[in-house]
Amino acid sequence: MKKRIAILTGAGVSAESGIGTFRDNGGLWDRYDPMTVASDEGWRRNPSLVLEFYNKRRLELKGAKPNKAHLLIASLEKEYNVDVITQNVDNLHERAGSTHVIHLHGELTKIRPENCCNERDNYSERSVIDIGYDEVRLGDKAPNGAQYRPHIVFFGEAVPKLERAIELVSRADIVLIVGTSLQVYPAAGLYRYAPDGSPIYIIDPSDVKVPDPRLHHIREVATVGMEKFIELL
Ligand code: OAD
Repeated sequence: MKKRIAILTGAGVSAESGIGTFRDNGGLWDRYDPMTVASDEGWRRNPSLVLEFYNKRRLELKGAKPNKAHLLIASLEKEYNVDVITQNVDNLHERAGSTHVIHLHGELTKIRPENCCNERDNYSERSVIDIGYDEVRLGDKAPNGAQYRPHIVFFGEAVPKLERAIELVSRADIVLIVGTSLQVYPAAGLYRYAPDGSPIYIIDPSDVKVPDPRLHHIREVATVGMEKFIELL
């Protein structure tokens, strides 16, 4: 039986691919107000601004490539059962070859009608469409007449994949956290579902903002930290 590794990733894993993080100096939330561009209220108030923000993010992603950290995470599948649970809306884990990826906060390359669905039917995946790196504008409407919106979990909205993520973490033999400030709940609390006795590693070049004796800190950027983590295994 292969051991199970649950890997919780955040913006830091994609930083070396040139995609900026949110809360580091000069990060996205220094330049944009999250409540304007990434909240349910912001969407209701000014959907054009929100669409423009995510159009830019999509374009940025088009020019980015998976880095060595994404590739090393994907390579772990040879010897382990790996579940990647990411807060990132980019597709760099998939492009690196990871085959079990859960996006807690949605996906940049997808959109859905704004009146579509609810948590219970998991946004009924059939209403979600893949647009790759294209732009979305106000007036782009679904066949049912509703405006398309980013398939992103805005601040103020529920995280539909949470239960599945909890289940995966709670049966992991090893938990690895890479590049997240652990500031945004419920994602930040997921590692606490690790079974007693399962080691929990965190790769981050900065101080861990949530001091917790269960966390073994590998103080490196993601590419170097992943090499060290694999040596430790
Ligand atoms: P943050 O920007 O809050 O945190 C990024 C973390 O990555 C920090 O702890 C950095 O120290 C670390 N970091 C920076 N460079 C790194 C590198 N090269 N290698 C490894 N780590 C590095 O990003 P998240 O924790 O992912 O949500 O943010 C969580 C959520 O907040 C996002 O999913 C987004 C945001 O608002 C939504 O938009 C819904």
